[in-house]
Amino acid sequence: MRCLFTASLAAAGIAGTLAHRVGDGPVRHRKSLGFGPVHKHAYYRSSPYQVVTNAFTRRSDDADPFEVARSFIEDILGNQLSESSSYKIRKDSYTDKATGITHVYVRQIINGLEVSDGDMNINIKDGMVLSYGNSFFTGPAPSHFMQQSLDDDIRHPHQEFCDGLTDEIELNYNSFLATQPDQVVMGDSAPTPKVDKALKHLTHVHHSNCRFQQLPTDMAVQTAERDIDLRSALLQFMVAATPNDHVVNDILGNFEHYLSKMVEYMQGNHFAPSDEPAYVMVDNVPDAVNPVKATLAYHQVPGKDDSVHLSLVWKFEVEMQDNWYEAAVSAIAPHRIVSVVDWASDAPVPIPEPEKTATYNVFAFGINDPEEGKRTIEKESFDSLASPVGWHSLPYANDPSFRGVKLTTKEFYRNTTTTWGNNVFAQENWEGQNAYVSNYRPDAGPGKAFDYPYKPKETDKGDALEEAQKYINATVAQLFYTTNIIHDLYYRYGFDEVSGNFQQYNFGRGGEGNDAVIANAQDGSGYNNANFMTPPDGQNGRMRMYLWNTALPYRDGDFEAGIVIHELSHGLSTRLTGGPLNSGCLPFGESGGMGEGWGDFLATTIRSTANYSDYAMGSWAANRVQGIRNYPYSLNETINPSTYKTLDKPGYFGVHAVGEVWAQMLWVVSQGLIEKHGFTDTLFPPAPNADGTVPEGDFYRPKSGKKPLVPKHGNSLSVQLVLNAMKLQPCRPGFFEARDAIILADQQLTGGENFCTLWKGFSSKGLGPDANVVLRTPWGGGVRTDDFEVPLACDSY
Ligand SMILES: *[C@@H]1O[C@H](CO)[C@@H](O)[C@H](O)[C@H]1NC(C)=O
Ligand SMILES: *[C@@H]1O[C@H](CO)[C@@H](O)[C@H](O)[C@H]1NC(C)=O
Ligand SMILES: *[C@@H]1O[C@H](CO)[C@@H](O)[C@H](O)[C@H]1NC(C)=O
Ligand SMILES: *[C@@H]1O[C@H](CO)[C@@H](O)[C@H](O)[C@H]1NC(C)=O
Repeated sequence: MRCLFTASLAAAGIAGTLAHRVGDGPVRHRKSLGFGPVHKHAYYRSSPYQVVTNAFTRRSDDADPFEVARSFIEDILGNQLSESSSYKIRKDSYTDKATGITHVYVRQIINGLEVSDGDMNINIKDGMVLSYGNSFFTGPAPSHFMQQSLDDDIRHPHQEFCDGLTDEIELNYNSFLATQPDQVVMGDSAPTPKVDKALKHLTHVHHSNCRFQQLPTDMAVQTAERDIDLRSALLQFMVAATPNDHVVNDILGNFEHYLSKMVEYMQGNHFAPSDEPAYVMVDNVPDAVNPVKATLAYHQVPGKDDSVHLSLVWKFEVEMQDNWYEAAVSAIAPHRIVSVVDWASDAPVPIPEPEKTATYNVFAFGINDPEEGKRTIEKESFDSLASPVGWHSLPYANDPSFRGVKLTTKEFYRNTTTTWGNNVFAQENWEGQNAYVSNYRPDAGPGKAFDYPYKPKETDKGDALEEAQKYINATVAQLFYTTNIIHDLYYRYGFDEVSGNFQQYNFGRGGEGNDAVIANAQDGSGYNNANFMTPPDGQNGRMRMYLWNTALPYRDGDFEAGIVIHELSHGLSTRLTGGPLNSGCLPFGESGGMGEGWGDFLATTIRSTANYSDYAMGSWAANRVQGIRNYPYSLNETINPSTYKTLDKPGYFGVHAVGEVWAQMLWVVSQGLIEKHGFTDTLFPPAPNADGTVPEGDFYRPKSGKKPLVPKHGNSLSVQLVLNAMKLQPCRPGFFEARDAIILADQQLTGGENFCTLWKGFSSKGLGPDANVVLRTPWGGGVRTDDFEVPLACDSY
């Protein structure tokens, strides 16, 4: 679960008790599993020099990038390739229209099965490999997948993860006690916030991931007779994943019953070869809200001597009420859970010329929250490249409210007068459930004037929820407006159909459709937070915005643009990193942390103005001037002292704390670009010409030849580099890979003119060329060294 605020205790703690005291009804306790082995052998090469040594023949500029990729892969893999060991180029690979870079995603195949964490991403332009990442398994292929047994040499990744966490908690607890006078143990005085936060976070991670029951061995053995039994492996996962104790007890007490109730049926292409491996669907899975998709695969697991082994696993995609998991569970009993990623995060038809008729009474784009400005009447200012049919139109065929309904109309597009369109379905969700189609949303009628009152009164706590519900029309309209604008903005910077954006219909431009954002306002499943679930391209993203009971009247997260932008940016970074069909590339540790950081950075950049200012995240909703992070984003090192090494501190094990360090680095780097290139008041590129070409306006530099358009100003250039780099970086990047991808993105876009500006920014935060980390833990720990130097070439800079 990617949340804005899960692990930060201050508000979460206060709010938890408040919520109960005022009788707002039960708030569900959310749990999120997430762990997996560290891939020590994975690497990313972004320096062309190293790539050139691998490039064996001269290539012409117009070579087919997929042919280039194939020769490159085959050169890297060399004699590793055999009948049983191969690869496939994934179908979500694409060529970026703006940069001309082809992003090729590759999956390793052994004995006909995918290695679910054997990934390559190869970035190619003009016949040259610009950079690539590789986490392929390098050992010998097992002779046949059925022969695999539980090997004593293979470590138990889950057990190790939990043992490591337990040690870490103990260590933290002891050092915490050592700094505290006796009365702390009695609970009389507040512990120092940092250590307290670390301990609480680690304990929370431990509780979610480690405190579940292993299926009794005799149960597992019975079912192991079915060789690579799917259902008991799945039940083992459900026992671990369900937040409901009664479900756990019921499964353990009625194991055979649950096993016999689950129904398996084959899906996939049985007759003709297809890109997708055949998979099994499993129905009647306890606590899953939809049938579970299961595929047999390999997963890489570290051995005792640090070597890497292959483990035969069932890969499950499990959609639950509050989580959406991709899990790998050992296929051989007793079933061990090898890795878990929670996807949740705390023929073209002529396009009609739509009229921009809708209006909304909202806090306009750029106003972060109600303290920063007043509501005004804003037009449906959709971007005609990003939203060709506007915000209130979608094909009948892609409209979930017509699913299973026989259509009588001959029209292709349906026009709506509600907050329901091709990019976003916005509605209330007071029940906090997963259904959304028939939830309430405002209907503004044919005039489409979404003008609703927002005048919350201060009430007793007991009436605060009801008071907030009175302005549901206004808050849903706001959420619809902000989400659509962000859809259009990110589109213009390259988050389009082929790269995995969120749209019901893709206008024949590639990528998978039927995945608009389901945006729930005032979601009843929580308070004082927000979250976004990102399944792979072709399945709807789900954003849940909460009320904040941090003040009276309650504050509504839907009105704080920074929170909405942060959440939508999870969808962006997850779909762009490692390819649109791989949602497991920002799972935890540094990569999970950066998943949070990009959201903070983009939200802060969007609200910033020509006059520099520091900004804190979430101040309004949380009702705290300093916001919900440890520090505001600032150029002043007294105000924000974060450096790379800050990540070693015990308070920094959670993804949000890691993310704030990354966002601070990006903030400093972007200010360097602004100093050099100036500032544009609008991040929106000019509207396209009638023929679809984009004019330069004052936004882009004068166009030169076939080169991609380059944003002229520092703030727009930063956003462009950050998005381009997400596409270049490997699956499961760390800070180094993400930094290198930004530097490569600049090399590609501007010819590297900002090389030293970028390095200067990163180095000032300790992320210089010789920064280093050893003893990494999966939850983000490690021992880091800051490097404040810049590369030699920039010495005199
Ligand atoms: C929807 O609106 C467009 C113009 O925006 C129009 O061309 C089209 O006919 C409308 N569709 C329906 C079903 O009314
Ligand atoms: C929302 O707006 C509709 C008109 O579109 C109105 O009938 C309804 O009463 C409003 N709801 C609230 C809670 O004000
Ligand atoms: C920036 O500051 C200048 C001078 O203090 C002021 O005139 C201008 O309105 C400010 N601009 C913004 C966008 O706040
Ligand atoms: C940085 O912030 C501190 C604390 O607010 C302040 O005392 C100092 O003057 C600031 N430094 C600069 C260069 O603005």
